[in-house]
Amino acid sequence: MKSKELRERFLGFFEKKGHKIVPSSSLIPTDPSVLLTTAGMQQFKEYFLGKPSPYGKRAVSCQKCLRTSDIKAVGDESHLTFLEMLGNFSFAASAEASGEGGASYFKEEAIRLAFELVNSKFQIPNSKIIVTVFGGDKEVPRDNESVRIWEKFGFSEKKGNLTFTGRADNFWGPTGLEGPCGPTTEIYFGKVELWNLVFNEYYQDEKGKLSELEQKGVDTGMGLERLAMIVQDKNSVYETDLFSPIIEEIRVRGGTGEGQSLIREERIIADHIKSAVFLISEGIFPSNIERGYILRRLLRRALRFGKLINLPKNFLIPLAQKVIEIYRDVYPEVKSKETDVLTTIQNEEEKFEKTLEKGLKELNKLERIGRIERIGISGELKIFNRVNAKAAFDIYQSYGFPLEMIQEELAKRALLVDKKEFEKEFKEEFKKHQEISRAGAEKKFGGVGKEANYESAKLHTATHLLHAALRQILGNYVKQMGSDITSQRLRFDFSRAKKLTPEEIKKVEDLVNQKIKENLEVKKEEITYEEAISSGALAFFKEKYPARVTVYSIGDPSVPSGQVFSKEICAGPHVKRTSELGNFKIIKEESSGAGIRRIRAVLK
Ligand code: SER
Repeated sequence: MKSKELRERFLGFFEKKGHKIVPSSSLIPTDPSVLLTTAGMQQFKEYFLGKPSPYGKRAVSCQKCLRTSDIKAVGDESHLTFLEMLGNFSFAASAEASGEGGASYFKEEAIRLAFELVNSKFQIPNSKIIVTVFGGDKEVPRDNESVRIWEKFGFSEKKGNLTFTGRADNFWGPTGLEGPCGPTTEIYFGKVELWNLVFNEYYQDEKGKLSELEQKGVDTGMGLERLAMIVQDKNSVYETDLFSPIIEEIRVRGGTGEGQSLIREERIIADHIKSAVFLISEGIFPSNIERGYILRRLLRRALRFGKLINLPKNFLIPLAQKVIEIYRDVYPEVKSKETDVLTTIQNEEEKFEKTLEKGLKELNKLERIGRIERIGISGELKIFNRVNAKAAFDIYQSYGFPLEMIQEELAKRALLVDKKEFEKEFKEEFKKHQEISRAGAEKKFGGVGKEANYESAKLHTATHLLHAALRQILGNYVKQMGSDITSQRLRFDFSRAKKLTPEEIKKVEDLVNQKIKENLEVKKEEITYEEAISSGALAFFKEKYPARVTVYSIGDPSVPSGQVFSKEICAGPHVKRTSELGNFKIIKEESSGAGIRRIRAVLK
């Protein structure tokens, strides 16, 4: 069974059982506290918390997901950064709910459906299946109900095909800073986790406190790649039809060559290029913060591993083309954004080459810090090749030279470096850096700190005001060409041929500040994309939007003097009222390519 058929069978099975097929949402979630979509349930999060679902009580989807939490494990048989998650969902179930048709269901039905699909539709033999159940802890009791249900299908602790695990393995969520969560029961094929069934029974608040949800829900997730690996009887996900064309291409160009067993480097490259293609096709470009940073890191890691196995220059381009071939029918955006994808990858490779060149030069300079000293009472001469950790760190910070590579290169050259001390200093520097920038940390992937979130929300709202002000002062030809926010400033690129005059800059700045003073309300609504566009909301052409979008309007048309000053499709986050922004200042206006101007601005 090809992956195409697996997808269709999964969706078709649940559709027949009264589930509405919902298309994959974007990799860029609407929840501002998470950077990327890491699970199928994210687009449904609110329906687990009581908001009525527009899809009814039952939904099914195949969701594009991107996770860097497992990046270090990528290269083994089954871990990936990009994956497609097959999932069925039930919203607002009461404890005893079950039944056919469109009604919500809970543990009984969820387990029954999963077992039926795995066992009869995908013909995975019972003897290969092991299930796990939440074993209970101080806060949440053992999930005896799931045990009872599994026993009906021949699984029990006694038989050795049901085991109990703790919070770390059999409890899921929430995504972001708060949300639904609960115990899980998981279906394993041998050692590989195949399907995770989450029973959303609790709500976890921002402080980590659990409370029981009035209405319970089911959220399940099964990786399509792992399912393909099992059904296609392969040793790893990389040998399935979702990867083999990429792997073959790596081998044509070098790698370990045909017939040899797959090595970790080849797998990592194949995984990372796939994630990169999907990110770029969603309008993400490499940068040093947030999603852009994740993209840059994936591309640079792929390039680095490519060098390690002697792949030639520009090897990522043909690999990206294979990714596009594999997915063009299922996710047309990878095809329609092909030019963006290929040029972005090529530009990043060139940048990375320059970075390496400069970084290596700097590294060589560092090496010369070594000095000879007399030590101890005997006055023995000793060479200290101590590298200044801060200086090494700066190479990472200013050139984006990968940390892993700095360590490797230092080890190669400065053999006498006091490794322990260096690593300690390095860690401290790294920690400091994590604290001051919203960029680097992998941790960030899961969610951003509250304070940083608020600063970011302010700058997001300021960006909308700036966009609207530019259109009002310069004309409606002004179109957003790009935008970027750090903890310190906003950057906004827009279509305009000529430099702005100082008078124009002043006018734009004044208009934004006037709107801040007016303390306008920032209103959020969720409507269909068509409704949004026909009501005049601005959309950023580089992004691909889901069927339902979030629209932010600034200004209240219901008050006598009121009218909407700005209306844009946007994932947020935003502040509640404009007065929260304080004072807006443009600090730079410059060119950013032919016909594009760039403004940097801060809030003070
Ligand atoms: N949300 C759960 C997961 O990601 C199940 O879909 O594993």
